[in-house]
Amino acid sequence: MPTAAAGSTGRAAVPLLQCALLAFGSTYVLDDSDGLGREFDGIGAVSGGGATSRLLVNYPEPYRSQVLDYLFKPNFGASLHILKVEIGGDGQTTDGTEPSHMHYTLDENYFRGYEWWLMKEAKKRNPNITLMALPWSFPGWLGKGFNWPYVNVQLTAYYVMTWIMGAKHYHDLDIDYIGIWNERAFDINYIKVLRRMLNYQGLQQVKIIASDNLWEPISTSMLLDSELLKVVDVIGAHYPGTCTVTGATLTGKKLWSSEDFSTLNNDVGAGCWGRILNQNYINGYMTSTIAWNLVASYYEQLPYGRCGLMTAQEPWSGHYVVESPIWVSAHTTQFTQPGWYYLKTVGHLEKGGSYVALTDGLGNLTIIIETMSHKHSVCIRPPLPYFSVSHQFATFVLKGSFSEIPELHVWYTKLGKPSQRHLFKQLDSLWLLNSSGTFTLELQEDELFTLTTLTTGSKGRHTLPPKSQPFPRSYKDDFNVVDPFFSEAPNFADQTGVFEYFVNTEDPGEHRFTLRQVLNQRPITWAADAHNTISIIGDYTWSNLMIKCDVYIENPEKGGVFIAGRVDKGGVLIRSAWGVFFWIFANGTYRVTRDLAGWFIYASGHVDVTAKKWYTLTLTIKAGLFL
Ligand SMILES: *[C@@H]1O[C@H](CO)[C@@H](O)[C@H](O)[C@H]1NC(C)=O
Ligand SMILES: *[C@@H]1O[C@H](CO)[C@@H](O)[C@H](O)[C@H]1NC(C)=O
Ligand SMILES: *[C@@H]1O[C@H](CO)[C@@H](O)[C@H](O)[C@H]1NC(C)=O
Repeated sequence: MPTAAAGSTGRAAVPLLQCALLAFGSTYVLDDSDGLGREFDGIGAVSGGGATSRLLVNYPEPYRSQVLDYLFKPNFGASLHILKVEIGGDGQTTDGTEPSHMHYTLDENYFRGYEWWLMKEAKKRNPNITLMALPWSFPGWLGKGFNWPYVNVQLTAYYVMTWIMGAKHYHDLDIDYIGIWNERAFDINYIKVLRRMLNYQGLQQVKIIASDNLWEPISTSMLLDSELLKVVDVIGAHYPGTCTVTGATLTGKKLWSSEDFSTLNNDVGAGCWGRILNQNYINGYMTSTIAWNLVASYYEQLPYGRCGLMTAQEPWSGHYVVESPIWVSAHTTQFTQPGWYYLKTVGHLEKGGSYVALTDGLGNLTIIIETMSHKHSVCIRPPLPYFSVSHQFATFVLKGSFSEIPELHVWYTKLGKPSQRHLFKQLDSLWLLNSSGTFTLELQEDELFTLTTLTTGSKGRHTLPPKSQPFPRSYKDDFNVVDPFFSEAPNFADQTGVFEYFVNTEDPGEHRFTLRQVLNQRPITWAADAHNTISIIGDYTWSNLMIKCDVYIENPEKGGVFIAGRVDKGGVLIRSAWGVFFWIFANGTYRVTRDLAGWFIYASGHVDVTAKKWYTLTLTIKAGLFL
């Protein structure tokens, strides 16, 4: 708990320091007399890379809005400053595929998927939110037969530029930052062409971030090429482990951790998040940190289950969980804004942990102190250097513009044991009136303190959501939706290919409303897409189940269709999925296989099937049979 120190009587600094050391452990000065540090650009999160918000969009109200409030509403929850979204490219990008606005040449549609909707919901809550976009995969036609987006850099730049124009034209969304190709190669010429094309379209204000991979080789490339140096506004690195490299700092550009966290959203993940939010700046001069991912809204059995700032993976029940990373975010986001500045006086605490301080330049000060222990900071790439954390007293001395601050509001989090756990709790203010700007905190491990002149923080709360429920045992969808708000049917999570509502206006009968696989070409992949397209729904642990589906094969040449149960893998692992797959082919054959690739065959033979005709497939799986 914070305790104002007795101590300084305005004597010389040296005796005070000695006194403080003896009585209160180490002393840390927070001072702006020597100027300020770097400009703060905000804390954010990624929706996509891929399909991580898939299930959120199907939540019933009011729960869907409540989740959005916890993420975006200022002074309520995570109150994020930045939303970064995937530019859907039709390919598998970790937990599913997201649709492209241009599946084919000359195709254009700015109403597919849910990222447009999500950006608008974020903007509704925080009109100042920074919007970023980045492609992971690209539609196949851009590659002209190659699995490579830089075959024709003009074409790819045009494709990305139209997405930005579409965001403005159809949704009134201003995209602030555009990236290159997530965690893949960049092409220097492409970056320059993209800049020129954006400028030509009057989009000078859209900044370029590169290259959403490691610090190198982009930094050295920029140092060797003055035009590239000019057109890249921000260097974004992924999972930097709080560190940067000399080349990056030499560019003089803003440095961001443009993807980070990727950790289970329990207290271990929250500890990791608290630590990197401070130390990305202290160790690596990064002025923005962006979490992958925003909200765990995908089937938990998919890769990286629950690696979102909160969990909302049950649209059928409305149940969601506001996890501790939301409140860890609040410690920073609710008390700073992009445009504030870090103080130069930031650093590590003697017995582990760290502190940062930021100011709006108008006299406001926010100090964030974390003591996340190593065991609570297992990031995907562990932060360096390591510090073990132990009980300590830390004395802070406010100097410069801050020496006269009378009162600091205090917010507190303690992770770990339920009996001691607190999440974003407001404590009594710290009064500094007679202390010459000096105060001492007693710190234990896994704590987070925010001390601030701002009075605006609040721990938002909605009434508790409904209880958790498994996916309904009986489920049916006839896709009979006139003018659907989303292009995809509820709860279907595409893992290869893109399935969209399709109204067959020539069919007056029972197959007028359908869900259709719309790709005619393999995308420029980011991950290992399967060779057969697939969308999953429900729960793969089910036994004794029956799946029934009306199917239609469009392609008489090589066409085929399958239904499957107990599909055990998805996301980037989809290619190796096992389960029970029942296939029919336009050439009049059928098959039952154990794998999606179709190598392990249980049964096969001839059957009276052709293309361009509807059939009803039924698959019954008995308990244990195929375990
Ligand atoms: C948006 O930013 C402006 C300018 O910094 C500020 O005055 C305003 O309060 C902000 N609005 C919200 C909702 O945060
Ligand atoms: C701090 O911020 C508040 C709210 O933005 C503002 O009204 C005030 O003038 C700022 N400065 C000080 C010294 O509080
Ligand atoms: C029928 O088509 C499937 C899928 O293209 C193929 O694997 C199979 O060999 C074909 N069978 C015959 C008898 O042509």
